[in-house]
Amino acid sequence: MRLGLLSLLAVLAATPVTAGMPHLANGQLIVDGKPFLILGGELGNSSASDPKYLDKLWPRLDRIGLNTLLVPVEWDQIEPVQGQFDFTVLDGVLAQARTHNTRVVLLWFGAWKNSMSTYAPAWVKHDPKRFSKAKSAAGETQDILSPFDPDNLAADQAAFVALMTHLKATDPQHTVLMIQVENEIGMLPDARDYSVAYKGQDDEAFQAKAFARYVEAEVKAGKAVYPLPMYVNAALNRPGKKPGEYPSGGPLPHLFDIWKKEAPSLDLLAPDIYFPDFVNRVDQFAGRNTLFIPEANQAGSPEAAANALYAIGEHRAIGFSPFSIEDLSEGDPLVGAYAMINQLSPLILSGKPMKGLRPPVDYQGTVDETPQTFTLGGYSFTASFVDPWTPKDKQNVATHGAILIQTGPDEFIAAGSGVTLTFATQTGRVGIEQVIEGTYEDGQFVPGRWLNGDQTHQGRHVRLPLEQWSIQKLKLYRYE
Ligand code: DGJ
Repeated sequence: MRLGLLSLLAVLAATPVTAGMPHLANGQLIVDGKPFLILGGELGNSSASDPKYLDKLWPRLDRIGLNTLLVPVEWDQIEPVQGQFDFTVLDGVLAQARTHNTRVVLLWFGAWKNSMSTYAPAWVKHDPKRFSKAKSAAGETQDILSPFDPDNLAADQAAFVALMTHLKATDPQHTVLMIQVENEIGMLPDARDYSVAYKGQDDEAFQAKAFARYVEAEVKAGKAVYPLPMYVNAALNRPGKKPGEYPSGGPLPHLFDIWKKEAPSLDLLAPDIYFPDFVNRVDQFAGRNTLFIPEANQAGSPEAAANALYAIGEHRAIGFSPFSIEDLSEGDPLVGAYAMINQLSPLILSGKPMKGLRPPVDYQGTVDETPQTFTLGGYSFTASFVDPWTPKDKQNVATHGAILIQTGPDEFIAAGSGVTLTFATQTGRVGIEQVIEGTYEDGQFVPGRWLNGDQTHQGRHVRLPLEQWSIQKLKLYRYE
């Protein structure tokens, strides 16, 4: 569909924002009036730029059991000529998502995609007098749009507003749940853009402020038309590297104060976590934010499932999404983990006390196998990550993870793989009244095998075996 600005405005005036807009409330994503947990995957950058190409990926995507796909939408594709919008590709992609009963988070690849400006339309790229590019400290022009040029913002913002206008008019069923604004914003190869003069000390803070103000203007304008939740994603910094060696000024934990102050219309700042120290990274974002992980691990990383369980169980993440999801192999453990989490979603989203468990791994990849002790529902639990009944050299402990939810007095659901739980109280002895393996259907536990014997070491522990995803209902009791 090709639309000029006037017809866009006419559509806009005619279409009220529908009730039941996706929104964030109390740290949850609300979709169709109910809390929603994104079991997602992000497409490789180019896969949605051709609906014919994407169409062939669906059999594989369907098998993964995603409920949400993260999909780029390109500025150069929707606005090939300034002011003339063409949403044919996006419309095709969203139609496919609807056919496959999958929601979408749209990634606005506008002025910046991983620091560069490669998704800007040709009419922007070719007109550096009007649309200024950034400069390095050495004075070299970068193929990066400067955030300091109001014309850059005006052009990017106009396209973004046209996108939001189009979504408002054409997506009453809310296939699109959220919008990521730009992608991994950050300046390279220096801490700041030298196309403007700056005499202060902190180049990265200066740059962060400029990016955040730019994003705020864009988000505000977009939300004025159609107020979907909006976030930015961060390219994380390697320890010991200086700003400019990593993308400088992005929404990183040490710059949260700047981003929160300068871009208050953003709903959250999200980490893209490819480093092994997932727990450490996610903890830093969760402390200040509703947690959403738009990119976590390259698809196929064996630790993705444990990371999902930790983020959701420990920090009530609203979603998790490995990158390049179309590359996930059929037998990947994430498929089983998503199926299990999907069953548990109503319980997870019900707000009951919950714990996420996985062994932390440091930046160098060393796994901390120390058992973890914590309290839940008046009991002290100890989670061990080394399976007691499997030879150590047959275990990849970094992939073990679980979620523990209190469902009633003395009653819990444990779900995961490679985690063994024992229990205690401060005041007396604790035993297992009953452990039943099962599934969850429509929010109800459906019992299966009763696990009184070897499967619980005759009542000494709850064990979530390796190489499967199991759900076990546990009832404890106290005795003297
Ligand atoms: C992070 C980016 O945000 C993605 O778009 C993609 O380029 C990946 N890196 C590639 O690993």
